[in-house]
Amino acid sequence: MKILITRKIPRACIDILKKHSNLELILKEGDPLTPQELIESIKGVDAIVPVMPDSITKEVIEAAGPNLKLIAHYAVGYDNIDVKTATEKNVYVSNTPGDLTESVAEFALGLMFAVAKKIVKSDEFMHQGKYHFWDPLIFLGPTFLNKTIGIVGLGRIGTHLARICTKGFNMRVLYFDEYRNDKAEQELGLIYTSLDDLLEKSDFISIHCPLLPSTRNLIGEKEFRKMKPTAYLINTARAGIVNEDALHTALSDKWIEGAGVDVVEEDSVLLDPALSNIVVTPHIASATREARIEMARMVAQNLVDVLIDNKEPTNLVNKELSKK
Ligand code: GLV
Repeated sequence: MKILITRKIPRACIDILKKHSNLELILKEGDPLTPQELIESIKGVDAIVPVMPDSITKEVIEAAGPNLKLIAHYAVGYDNIDVKTATEKNVYVSNTPGDLTESVAEFALGLMFAVAKKIVKSDEFMHQGKYHFWDPLIFLGPTFLNKTIGIVGLGRIGTHLARICTKGFNMRVLYFDEYRNDKAEQELGLIYTSLDDLLEKSDFISIHCPLLPSTRNLIGEKEFRKMKPTAYLINTARAGIVNEDALHTALSDKWIEGAGVDVVEEDSVLLDPALSNIVVTPHIASATREARIEMARMVAQNLVDVLIDNKEPTNLVNKELSKK
């Protein structure tokens, strides 16, 4: 059985799969496959392991042919996969939930530090040889202690960030989500609010919801206008949730104090060198050795479940296909 792995991923996945002699691995390396290369490479395979830049569209799924049984995504978020078409064609989709929770929550906090404590800007300042004497009034930012953070999307990552912020900084945590989480409210003292309330009251706002039709452009001009002028927006989720033009205006016109984003659109306006109050990173919130290796193991497990053990994948996304 053929498995197409579209990018180089940690060996942990390959090592597990190589133990099964009936699995043939097609390993791609280098730049992501173009849509046309993806269509060519997927033909006749039993499973594909895509990564984030790959768009697994209807056309790609149809190009695979009747052997395709599993799309074993090397990620948690699966907005790049046409799950509806996969389900119609009885193709399982799996992901890797839970393995990168701590890594992403820690990184969101890292972005808070990087932008609000001006770490990146002051590092540039030092490297440009601009430091000549101590100055009481440069690079001022807020303390985190006792501040309010608003978490949009209280899943595993949002909850872990809430835990760090309550326990580490005695922060008040507001959250907005489709669902209330009584357990987290009781354990951590979190406060459930409307999105508007959260935007108005928070010193830091961190996005942790998936990109769905209902969350696309969730944070746009109207929402930025509600935020405090001293607020910081952090986005480690998906670019489409925050409207980038609106964020650009909010930063340049100082509606908010700053932003830290790990996810951007192609040719993003947020890379405008004139913006001095944003830190942008290349989608690395889950880039810890621990998380990336565990993701590889989970992908291998999902593949073995379906192709070797003839059962549904452990981390099934399209639950409609569950036989239970
Ligand atoms: C990372 O963004 C993921 O969804 O795994």
